[in-house]
Amino acid sequence: APGAQEFVPDAARDLDTLKAAAPGCRGCELYEPATQVVFGRGDAHARVVFVGEQPGDVEDRQGLPFVGPAGRLLREAVDAAGIDPSSVYITNAVKHFRFQLRGSRRIHQTPDQVHITACRPWLVAEFALLRPEIVVVLGATAAKALLGPSFRVTKERGTLMPWPASAQHPEDFPVAECRALATIHPSAVLRADNRDVAFDGLVDDLKVVAGALA
Ligand code: URA
Ligand code: SF4
Repeated sequence: APGAQEFVPDAARDLDTLKAAAPGCRGCELYEPATQVVFGRGDAHARVVFVGEQPGDVEDRQGLPFVGPAGRLLREAVDAAGIDPSSVYITNAVKHFRFQLRGSRRIHQTPDQVHITACRPWLVAEFALLRPEIVVVLGATAAKALLGPSFRVTKERGTLMPWPASAQHPEDFPVAECRALATIHPSAVLRADNRDVAFDGLVDDLKVVAGALA
């Protein structure tokens, strides 16, 4: 697979230009079975950017990130933490839905490292325009895309940290200006044995972000 780089417009001046080019991406094989690409959305001047894994079934059909059950839970958590939802941008590490067909059901499949690597140029291009102060890394896939393979979300979640030096790439936006906070993915909250405890944990982590913005 060639990766997304050749499909990302050079020196795009705004997010709409990027978004308009994304349906043409053939950077990996995931575009083919998916309904459509799901690009990031939100405030172009957001101080905080949320990065999830990949669109789910509902997102694939609607063409918008985090509009299904995980999205509802994330909005509740953002609200409970006291972050203004109109001043964030939300996107995914991988921009096509990866699934397996079981009969007529489409079962979510976690993206592999090859998909994460292939799709990363879109994320880098979004960040280059957004230049966020804080990136909220939701779960292991986003952590692999952004914080490197040795980062462990369960161990290092909830801390607002300078961008790890090991995860800086020269082609990236100047991450030295940006801090990251990793936390549990909202889908993991939905799957948790004790949903309330998991939800409160997510909210506690997001309160750290709210505090830094205040
Ligand atoms: N899970 C994600 O990681 N992203 C979405 O957009 C929806 C569910
Ligand atoms: Fe391109 Fe990413 Fe879709 Fe693969 S998942 S085709 S790299 S947009």
